[in-house]
Amino acid sequence: MFIQWTLVIFSVTLISAGSIPERIVGGKPAEITQFPWQVSLYKLGNHCCGGSIYSNEIVITAAHCIETPEFPKIYSVRVGSLTNNTGGQLVEVVEIIRHENYVPKRRHTYNDVAVLRLQSKLILSDNVSPIPLADKAPSAGSPAWVSGFGNIRTNTPGTGNLLYTSLKISDFDQCQNSYKYLTKVQICADAPGKDSCQGDSGGPLVSDGKLVGIVSFGILCARPDYPGVYANVAELKPWILNAIAKLLGTHIADQK
Ligand code: ARG
Repeated sequence: MFIQWTLVIFSVTLISAGSIPERIVGGKPAEITQFPWQVSLYKLGNHCCGGSIYSNEIVITAAHCIETPEFPKIYSVRVGSLTNNTGGQLVEVVEIIRHENYVPKRRHTYNDVAVLRLQSKLILSDNVSPIPLADKAPSAGSPAWVSGFGNIRTNTPGTGNLLYTSLKISDFDQCQNSYKYLTKVQICADAPGKDSCQGDSGGPLVSDGKLVGIVSFGILCARPDYPGVYANVAELKPWILNAIAKLLGTHIADQK
C-alpha cells in the first residue's frame, strides 16, 4: 500500500513538473497585477524591448533599445497588457534622453539606460503603476524577478505573452570571472535554467519591490557560468533622476 501511494505521488509530481511551461527562459505566465510596471517598447509599431514605468509620463529602458534618440516618435509603449500586441494603453514617446556615456560594444556595454517622456499621461491602476528605483544594489544571493516578452530560449521567440522568472543576484566577482570587463554600473543575476533573453532588454529586474536592474546583455541565455547582465539602477540613479528632471522641464523629478 505504502509503495503504491509513493508511486502515485511520484508520478503526479513528474506529470505536473513536465507541464510547467518553459518561458522567458525557465519562466511562468505572469498576472499583470504582479508586474504593473512592465512596458512593451515598440519601434515602428513592433515590439523591440521591455521597459519600466517610473511615473505616469516617464518610462525607463535600456540605451541599446534606442538607436535614434533624436527621433523619439518612432517609439511608443504599451502598458497594462499581458500580450505585447493588444490591450492596455498604447502611448507615443515624445522625448528621449539616452545616457551620454553609453558604450554599445558587446561585453563592453556600459551605462545601458535611457529615459522616455510620453505624449500623454498613463492612466494608473492596479494594472499600470510605477516601480520605485533602488537606492542600494541588493547583495549577492538576494531574490530578484525579471519579466518580459522576449525569447523563451536562445534563438526561440516568445509567445507574445508576459512571462517572469525568479533569479538571485549573482556574486559580482564570480560574474566578473565570466565577463571580464564589468564595472559597478552593472549587476548580474542568475539561477539554474532561468534567465532573461533577447527581447527582454530594457525590462525590469526587481528585488524587494524596487527596480534594481535593466536587462542589458548576456552570452546566449541561461548558460551556466554566464549570468544575465543588468544596468545597475542604484548606481545609475543620479543620472536617471537628472535626466528625468530635464525631460520634465524645470520640475524636480519627484516620483508619482
Ligand atoms: N540584449 C538582449 C536584448 O536586446 C538582452 C539579453 C539578455 N541576455 C541574457 N542572457 N540575460 O533583448
